[in-house]
Amino acid sequence: MIDLHSHLLPNIDDGSKSIRASLRMAHEAVEDGIEAALMTPHHMNGHYMNHKADVIRLTQEFQAHLDKEKIPLQVFPSQEVRINGGLIDALDNDDILFADEDNRYLLLEFPDDDVPTYSDDMIFNIMQRGISVQIAHPERNLKIMAQPDILFNLIEKGAIAQVTASSYVGTFGKKVEKFSEAIVAHNLAHVFVSDAHDLPNREYEMRQAFHKLGTNLGKQYQQMFEKNAEAILDGNNVEKLIPEMIVKRRFFNGF
Ligand SMILES: [Fe+2]
Repeated sequence: MIDLHSHLLPNIDDGSKSIRASLRMAHEAVEDGIEAALMTPHHMNGHYMNHKADVIRLTQEFQAHLDKEKIPLQVFPSQEVRINGGLIDALDNDDILFADEDNRYLLLEFPDDDVPTYSDDMIFNIMQRGISVQIAHPERNLKIMAQPDILFNLIEKGAIAQVTASSYVGTFGKKVEKFSEAIVAHNLAHVFVSDAHDLPNREYEMRQAFHKLGTNLGKQYQQMFEKNAEAILDGNNVEKLIPEMIVKRRFFNGF
């Protein structure tokens, strides 16, 4: 399996706090079936700046540690970029890392509780440059939870979305689990990722998420999600099914 979103690089964001923790997490990733992982430290989120050149260097150093410890995980440099007013400048200044070497897939996160009003315009502007936007964990965004049509509109315009494996299996609670299931069932997500952080109760649950996906929606969804992760890493087209609008059930606390 390929993991397109993880915070394994030590001491640069809210992920791993030491190389020891990073190596342990890498071992856990391998145990869960992951062979290759993107290192996606937060960038430009108001707390963390992780410039392209630094992430490339730190990822190479981490790969050397992994090789020395004989942990069979291939790591690649990338970023999880917060939507912000300086993003277009950062793209112009070549300070943004993508999921792939062809600079096609950009991992974009919104603030936890909001999708800023300028997002539509900025995402359109980014896409005009031939960049595909991957939305990070829409299932945990409070505004999207309240107004799922925001996600539908972005996907319809060509964005793709990642759902965190742990969200889909219920680690963040029933509400996030149900919304994750709805997002996936309405073809509003295209891949599972770990978004691994070194936190209590945050284990690798990719295998479990894929198993549940197979049980809920069938083997073809499993295969599609797995292949999509490979396609994104290689800069190729992902398979997309026709997105459907999520209609919230008014009188139930669910979707
Ligand atoms: Fe993340």
